[in-house]
Amino acid sequence: MLIYQEKDYNAVSRRAAWIIAAQVVAKPGCVLGLATGSSPVGTYQQLVQWHKQGDLSFAEVRSVNLDEYYGLAPDHDQSYRYFMQANLFDHVDIDPENTNVPNGLAKDAEAECLRYEQKVAELGYADLQLLGMGRNGHIGFNEPCGCFPVMTHLVDLAESTIEANARFFASAGDVPRQALTMGIGTIMKARKILVVVSGEDKADAVYKAVCGPVTPEVPASVLQLHPDVVLVADQAALSKLTEAVQ
Ligand code: F6R
Repeated sequence: MLIYQEKDYNAVSRRAAWIIAAQVVAKPGCVLGLATGSSPVGTYQQLVQWHKQGDLSFAEVRSVNLDEYYGLAPDHDQSYRYFMQANLFDHVDIDPENTNVPNGLAKDAEAECLRYEQKVAELGYADLQLLGMGRNGHIGFNEPCGCFPVMTHLVDLAESTIEANARFFASAGDVPRQALTMGIGTIMKARKILVVVSGEDKADAVYKAVCGPVTPEVPASVLQLHPDVVLVADQAALSKLTEAVQ
């Protein structure tokens, strides 16, 4: 695992955007695995800026998002489809037909998970998968549990995730209780994984993911087994790790 320690969120975003831009320049028709949440917002802003300057094109890029709340319509302002449109897709030249997010309104969740997994497989899995990390070490919405879920599946969100995400909703009661998420197996099939993390509240999860045992109790710890992971984090998120190695 390659770890970049950056001074703050803006520096994390810039470093992550460089890595994604390099991937797109090297392979214009690449498959980008994308994430939502606070962590990648600055990264997307930087990519949009380079696109607007004429330095970066997404015309041939295909994208697959990690997850979607189950029960939210694509035009709900807290759905991950809406997030992607607002933060990236509406501001760059990506073909809307080439963007993929699980359908949060699918009546049959199991069938939707199978369809989505097949779509990601048809595309050949991600060339580069962008990830954030939950405070409990989740990646995508793979919450701590007794095993590593392999494929796209319906998951019950952990109480800590509902609490953490309540900041985007009117109240914790409005946060959907379930989500459709790529499995750990789907994520691990990506050729390269880029993790962006910032803030002291992630320090414990980062420490456990990098230095702790590989365990489904800390889903991000599985990344220790992937041959090409780049972790870009600020000093606060790396604080526990740096303390431990001093
Ligand atoms: C989002 C996702 C989640 C987030 C994680 C961190 O698509 O899959 O795993 O990356 O919950 O969220 P933030 O960045 O808001 O702290």
